[in-house]
Amino acid sequence: MTTVLSAAPQAVATAVDLLVRGQVVALPTETVYGLAADATDAEAVARIFEAKNRPSFDPLIVHVRSWEQLQGVADVTEPLVHDLADKYWPGPLTFVLPKGDSIPDLVTSGSPHVAVRMPAHPFFREVLQAFGKPLAAPSANRFGRISPTEAGHVLESLGGKIPLILDGGPCSMGIESTIVRISEGTIYVLRDGPVSREELLRFGYPVSGASDSAAPGQLASHYAPRKSLSLVNSAADIPPEWHQESGFLAFKSPGKNDFGAIEVLSPTGDIVEAAARLFGCLHRLDAAPVARLWAERVPFEGLGRAIMDRLTRASVR
Ligand code: TXA
Ligand code: MG
Repeated sequence: MTTVLSAAPQAVATAVDLLVRGQVVALPTETVYGLAADATDAEAVARIFEAKNRPSFDPLIVHVRSWEQLQGVADVTEPLVHDLADKYWPGPLTFVLPKGDSIPDLVTSGSPHVAVRMPAHPFFREVLQAFGKPLAAPSANRFGRISPTEAGHVLESLGGKIPLILDGGPCSMGIESTIVRISEGTIYVLRDGPVSREELLRFGYPVSGASDSAAPGQLASHYAPRKSLSLVNSAADIPPEWHQESGFLAFKSPGKNDFGAIEVLSPTGDIVEAAARLFGCLHRLDAAPVARLWAERVPFEGLGRAIMDRLTRASVR
């Protein structure tokens, strides 16, 4: 049985009670919903892998409330990490840093590096505060599937497998955190996200997306709907005889259309709105009575790069 509770002191207390007992709890963050467990307890962390059906070669992000909570979790001597964190924490930027002793190897899949971030969502922060220990949390979906941006998405994907979902409403950003690793004065982007490469470049260091350093869990096929999805430059590229049985994910308002189902990321072409709506639109299209899906490419810059990363992986089967 999975219970869903809305934001209230009672909900936080219930979540903490479960976490103390080594259980998993789904919590909202500003990016996507996470499936959290005590990051210092290998058995609790193993329950995350089990509930998600996640392969153990895919390491987890550790979430902390404060710099004090980073003690023992990660080594943060690199000055550029402090500069970036000053600007983006709490928020959607994750650092891959040398791992501290309090984090079991299962969290990092045996890597000597750990991914950490300080989330901004007040509900998640309340739980971190009340629990008093860092929380490991991947996105709260079955492995490889569309990420959850509403409590209902979590229930659909993990209902019956986890005891509790805290419902904080829809996630404001809707796309997973940017992951960076800093090495020899270069910022390597392991996963594109809400903090864009253009923003990172303003810190005056080279920004690189070297594919050999991509995050280990970023498989070619990921974020996948159940139906096949193809990318197109515009609706005009979709054969008309397919329209009726197709679902179309448009970037901007497409005008008149005859698709079996349609979702528009942002009527005005606002890329921030588009990112926030991306996974919700994909969930709805996947549930619509159509045979296959098409998605319109978005401009490959700023947040558009993160959206294109998710769409490209969703289109690989
Ligand atoms: O916004 C987010 O980051 C969300 C919320 C819940 O915080 N979390 C999230 O977690 O997206 P997940 O597990 O779905 O994706 C984490 C990514 C994976 O691709 C994983 O391979 C990478 O982070 N990662 C984790 N630890 C790593 C490490 N030590 N080195 C390199 N990549 C790592
Ligand atoms: Mg994920």
